This record gives sequence, C-alpha cells and structure tokens, in this order.
Amino acid sequence: MEPTKKPFVVDVAIAGGGIIGLSLGLELRQRGLSVAVMERGQAMSSASWAAGGMLAVNDPQNPPELLPLSVRSWALYPAYLDRIEALSGRHVPLRTRWTLQHLESERESDGVLTEAEIVEYAPGLDATGHSFKLLEEGSLDPNDLREALPAAFRAAEGTLLEGTAVLGVESTAHGVLVETQRERIAAGMFVNCCGAWAGGPRLGGLPVVPVKGQMANLRCQPERLRCVVRVPGIYLIPRGDGRVTIGATLEHAGFDETVQEPSIRQLIEAALRLLPEATTPSQMESWAGLRPGTSDGLPILGTSKTKHCWHATGHYRDGILLAPVTARVMAQAMLGESPDVPLEAFTPARF
Ligand code: GLY
Repeated sequence: MEPTKKPFVVDVAIAGGGIIGLSLGLELRQRGLSVAVMERGQAMSSASWAAGGMLAVNDPQNPPELLPLSVRSWALYPAYLDRIEALSGRHVPLRTRWTLQHLESERESDGVLTEAEIVEYAPGLDATGHSFKLLEEGSLDPNDLREALPAAFRAAEGTLLEGTAVLGVESTAHGVLVETQRERIAAGMFVNCCGAWAGGPRLGGLPVVPVKGQMANLRCQPERLRCVVRVPGIYLIPRGDGRVTIGATLEHAGFDETVQEPSIRQLIEAALRLLPEATTPSQMESWAGLRPGTSDGLPILGTSKTKHCWHATGHYRDGILLAPVTARVMAQAMLGESPDVPLEAFTPARF
C-alpha cells in the first residue's frame, strides 16, 4: 500500500490568487511567515484583471463606512507599488492622478470646476449637462499588476499554487488541514480570499454574491483626456497610451462572465456622448468580470466561525483600491496586533 503523502506545511494558507490574496501573502511574507496561495485557475485572472483600476477613494457611491479604509489604502499605495516593482522588476505606474467627479447635487457648489478648468484636464470632454469637481485620485491598469504581483509574491519566496482548487478546510488542534485538487496543506491559519467565489459552502458559506461588470476599450488621443471621468452610469479611464477603458455594467447574473453586445453598445454610446472624438478599435476589446458583492456594500474582514480561519473578501467595486490596506489590517489582526483601521464594521459576524 502506498504511504499517505505528508502534507505541505506552511504558516498561512490563502485560497484565492487575486489581488487580495496575493497582497496579503506578500505582507505576511514581509513579516517572516511562510505562505501558500492556492488559486483554482490562473493568478490575477478574474476580477483583479477585469477591474477598471480606479483608486476611487471619494466615489460618492461608496458607503461612508468605507472611507477610513480607502483613505489609508491610498496612503499605502506608493510603498505598495514600490515593493511590487522592487521584487518583480516590473513597473506598475499610476496612469492617471486626477478624477473629474460628476456632482450629484446642485447644493454641492464648493469646488465646482469652471469650463476652462475642465478643459485643462479633459479638452476632449463634452461636459454638457454635468458639473464636476476635481478629486486627487489615481488609477492604474490592472494588466500591469497581472504579471507583477504574482512575480513579486514568488520573488518574496511565497508559494503560488495555480490550478489548485480548495476542496475542503478542516480545523485541527493547532491550525487547519486544507484539502486541494493536488495536495494537502497543513497551515497555522487559513484565509478565504476567493472574491466572488468566497461564498462557496467549502469556504464557510458567506453571503457574497457575484455582481457582473462588462467593460470595453475605446481609443482617443492621450492629451484629449488626461484624467478619469465619472458620471452616473459610466466612467472613462484613460491609460495614457490612447486606450480609454469604459465601464461598467452592474448585473446580478450569477457566475455568468459572458460579454453581451447590447450592453457594450450602450456603454459605448454613453462614452461617446462624453468623449465624441473617441473611436472603437478595429478589433473590439470588451470583457466582463465578477465583483464580490455584499448586502451592505462593505468588505468582509475578520475571523470565520471555523477555528484558525479568516475571511478577506467582499470588496465589491474597490478591490484594487483596498488591496494594500486589506493586506495590512488582516496581517495585523492575524498576528494579534491592533489594526491601522478598526475592523468592527467589516466583521464576518455581522451576517
Ligand atoms: N471599480 C469600478 C467598478 O466596479 O465598476
């Protein structure tokens, strides 16, 4: 009889190789813990890649409770990107540093931009019917992180197991035993960073629902749009190289990730009203991703009901923005330190 293979032993096992799982893995490696990230497909290939990449700290659509996390994450961003670049050798630039935010209410008269000010940031914009204020917010192209973050995690001697779905997690006296498609992993702690898939019964049945977003790329001269533009129903994110990413639909369509031509057409029509000089590329570039949605629009950060297990998911529209702070506060909480931002509002126990 073949002897049972010994489990692979690490301090922390993380399910989900998206931006949240890998950023947390990197933070824990920095603190000297051994980490294995298990990803059922390819790292950074779901919402982390499909995202727009806006670091939308002051998006009026964000719940107010998110603000302390968002502000802290934006402050952590420069060091976060520097670290990824130093480890991976890949540059991940901020592609914009400003956002023109549509003002929802006539009462918001403070800081309303004049026509001349709008032209300074977005000479190609048709602002008819909109008033805007200017926000100091960055954006990045998630494609830049797609290679860089897994490379950084590996360079930090983290173990990244792609094509490795988690089949079950069992707590033991001193930690957890994780059953995967490939091997068993014994770890001191387990973290569920599975994004829209985090609600699976094998991971503790959290109330996380997929919220589909469809997006596309247009083309426009880079100097005609030099900042993100957000108005109700659509945003434009210039990448600085002629691409303008437009998004996004908000759809409760289960785990369907297909692109529907009518949805893309509507997005393009709305984008062209704002940026009439934009053109569609000869080969249409459109895609869809699944955001991890929660009923209160807030992430889920904290301990699970299962001993030695944690959750870091539910980042909905702000996973890219919130990755650095999530990594920081989760590592702090897991190691018994006081987190930079209080986590009570984000506890899994609120459901
Ligand atoms: N972060 C923008 C979106 O979810 O569409």
